Amino acid sequence: MSLFEIAPVFHLLESALLAKLAHLAGFPSPGPDESPPNLPPGMFCPGGSVALLYSLQLARHRLQPDLVRFGASGQPLSVFVSKSGHYGAGKAAAMLGIGTDAVVEVATAHDGSMDPNALRDAMATAVAEGRTPLAVIATAGTTVTCAFDPLNEVADACVEHGAWFHIDGCYGASALFSTDHRHRLAGSHRADSMVWNLHKMMGVTQQCTALLLREPERLDSCFSSGAEYLFQPDKQFGEWDSGDRTYQCGRRVDALKLWLTWKARGDDGFAARIDHAVAMADFARMVIGTSDGAFVPVVDTGFTNVVFLWVPPELRPLDLEYLFSEWSEGRSGAVWDRLHRLAPRIKARMQAEGTALIGYQPIHGVNTFRVLFMNPAVGPDDVDAVLGHIARYGAEEWADLD
Ligand SMILES: Cc1ncc(COP(=O)(O)O)c(C=O)c1O
Repeated sequence: MSLFEIAPVFHLLESALLAKLAHLAGFPSPGPDESPPNLPPGMFCPGGSVALLYSLQLARHRLQPDLVRFGASGQPLSVFVSKSGHYGAGKAAAMLGIGTDAVVEVATAHDGSMDPNALRDAMATAVAEGRTPLAVIATAGTTVTCAFDPLNEVADACVEHGAWFHIDGCYGASALFSTDHRHRLAGSHRADSMVWNLHKMMGVTQQCTALLLREPERLDSCFSSGAEYLFQPDKQFGEWDSGDRTYQCGRRVDALKLWLTWKARGDDGFAARIDHAVAMADFARMVIGTSDGAFVPVVDTGFTNVVFLWVPPELRPLDLEYLFSEWSEGRSGAVWDRLHRLAPRIKARMQAEGTALIGYQPIHGVNTFRVLFMNPAVGPDDVDAVLGHIARYGAEEWADLD
């Protein structure tokens, strides 16, 4: 991917796919049945982290149009992302010379979604301190709980401050394929940019990342070098060349994998994949909810992630609110400390015995398990098996914990 004349079919195919994805997200773009545009609404790029680099660079360029020529003006900037947002925000800020101190972590609601009031307060504080709100990164599908930030409210805050509105839909944008779940991204049409990893929920081989842009023409002014040996303005089909609109010169044809997968499964197949994943998560939630306190749900966002604890018999029924308040107030007793240390031991046992590989993560200070569903081959038996392993190893390890 660079020059149309060396990859004409791939350029058409990438453009058609981006138009279709943009249409699902509500971005301005030709409909899926129209001809692919020679300026597609975005690009495929190497992963969500790189897509964020592109987006923040475009945001800086919109704020300071002479940035490319003269470099950053030194104006202090702020980038906002929720506490549950991906750690890539800090890396991008570091790499672009914005600085990690410019990244403001916005408080979240209990489910891990960004608190819009906290965002407004954080932006007002930044302005009062003389910083310019450059961008807000809203997450559609946070890594641990799979929370969806309130996109419309984030959009309102961005409009108020003239900030770039980026959606990190790496994980959750695929909900747009499902009639039942696309409401989770209500407001996506108002974003300036959105990244979507098709290699996550849609099972396309790594790497397949679409970056969607409201104003793709900005890519030209931000990234074009006009190298005369390649991008001659008077050559045939030059308007289709993607190589002068991107930071990279040549790119892999990641779109082809999505094209083939989508052709094979169809819109219905893609929707069914999401619906199946949520149905399996619902099944897990049901098993947890009817386990007589052997498991407790910790956070429930109703989508594909199920976050829970296995509870030793002597602690049942477990009062989670009490547990969390003890931790947050620094009064955690020995028993809670043991509980915190239990999940790593259960995981290590599963790993050592080769039964399952389930990650744990602290939520409000306590290690919890998270299962998330993507694979269409996963069924209720797998859920039962995994929960069974956790309960069995949990009982054995709890007895051994000092
Ligand atoms: C919510 C979220 N954002 C960003 C990323 C980073 O994406 P990538 O691994 O494609 O750089 C991930 C992937 O792990 C993610 O889950």
